[in-house]
Amino acid sequence: MENIKSYVQQHKDRFINELIELLKIPSVSADTAYSQDVIDTAEAVKASLSQAGCDFVETCDTPGYPIIYGEKIIDPNLPTVLVYGHYDVQPPDPMELWTSPPFEPVIKTTDIHPEGAIFARGACDDKGQMYMHVKALEYMVQSNTLPCNVKFMIEGEEEVGSASLAWFVERNQEKLKNDVILISDTGMISNQQPSITTGLRGLSYVEVEVTGPNRDLHSGLYGGAVANPINILAKMIASLHDEDNHITIPGFYDKVQELSAEERAEMAKAPFSLEKYKNALNIADVYGEKGYVTNERNSIRPTLDVNGIWGGYTGEGAKTVIASKAYAKISMRLVPNQDWHEITELFTKHFTSIAPAGVTVKVTPHHGGQGYVTPIDSIGYQAANKAYTETFGVPAIPVRSGGSIPIVSLFEKELKSKTILMGFGLDSDAIHSPNEHFGIFNYLKGIETIPLFYKYFVALSK
Ligand code: BES
Ligand code: MN
Ligand code: MN
Repeated sequence: MENIKSYVQQHKDRFINELIELLKIPSVSADTAYSQDVIDTAEAVKASLSQAGCDFVETCDTPGYPIIYGEKIIDPNLPTVLVYGHYDVQPPDPMELWTSPPFEPVIKTTDIHPEGAIFARGACDDKGQMYMHVKALEYMVQSNTLPCNVKFMIEGEEEVGSASLAWFVERNQEKLKNDVILISDTGMISNQQPSITTGLRGLSYVEVEVTGPNRDLHSGLYGGAVANPINILAKMIASLHDEDNHITIPGFYDKVQELSAEERAEMAKAPFSLEKYKNALNIADVYGEKGYVTNERNSIRPTLDVNGIWGGYTGEGAKTVIASKAYAKISMRLVPNQDWHEITELFTKHFTSIAPAGVTVKVTPHHGGQGYVTPIDSIGYQAANKAYTETFGVPAIPVRSGGSIPIVSLFEKELKSKTILMGFGLDSDAIHSPNEHFGIFNYLKGIETIPLFYKYFVALSK
């Protein structure tokens, strides 16, 4: 497969331009104003899979956005790789913080990406990383080196909880049968040090509503005499962590898997600079659960964070008011063995119980998913490691990530196969933030590395 490098060199401008076209369509799944764009993106993905060499592609309708399915079956006796990715993106806001419009992709250089990076919403998460697989397939088909069967399943609701994908997977076990699931929707340590994600956190996402008086009140006439829902909500939220930053919900930690001293020592070997971490975020210090270091706090430990909080008057100037209602959106990142339904229930029970008599509390669960860990002695992991070693010149380091791809644990349950997370993004690529970007180096390196995964996976499966 020596000529994957030359194929990439020869076609890189086209690879970049095709991705740029895909990034121009604003496939924001959270906002119905973009629904036609989401559907258009699905069709663009479908066309790209046919063009790359799938011999069957279809748009699968679901209760929500369509799933694009494609396959190339060369021999039913050979292994099958199932590629999963998502074509939907996060909302771009806050718009004013983008240095170029989120759906008008441009290439700019950064300190970390001296050879340039594509700036656009979805560049890294996940259109860019998903499209590497389409181009890797194109190469394998063109060079007649596809060593096994391949199936693609690209969805449009990942950023809003993958409800339709769960529906689809439950109904299509036979169609989706595979030997390994391959996903590029995570990151790696740096462009000099590849890593393979061996764990994802679970998630429970809830919205809370605190109601006080039946109408907004004059804060002078009533202030001090009735419960202010915003004050109360702030107090309730603050009480969810103790002074050591442990979460105070009874039962929250009951099923948390503690890592052994050896496993923690192994984790500590991954290159990490606290100084660089703080500098990159412009913070004077890190903050988190007592007894754990930063790389543990953001991967092997569960968390509780307010993602948004609102209520009362937030317009220009001042208005003296006690609002009738206050709201917050809260996410809990979970670790393996914590069940998200159970955690959602524990949260609801506790949060309702700590409300004083002057208010009522409503908790509405949004979505969630289980965490995931994968062993490093599997054929899939070994194949991925060999592939990275060949293209980067150094072996990959296993890393547990703090992010969530809830569908991965469902894949294991329904399809009985392991997922390999071959990410090529960097933490600094600003996914979900303004100015999201994806390095040209990373994009092309991904296209180069993926065919090697196929090669080694098939070789090791024999
Ligand atoms: N690709 C991310 C998840 C991710 C990013 C995992 C980097 C590991 C490293 C995915 O698109 C995502 O954003 N997931 C959501 C959960 C989803 C249910 C909205 C998340 O982690 O917040
Ligand atoms: Mn993603
Ligand atoms: Mn995302």
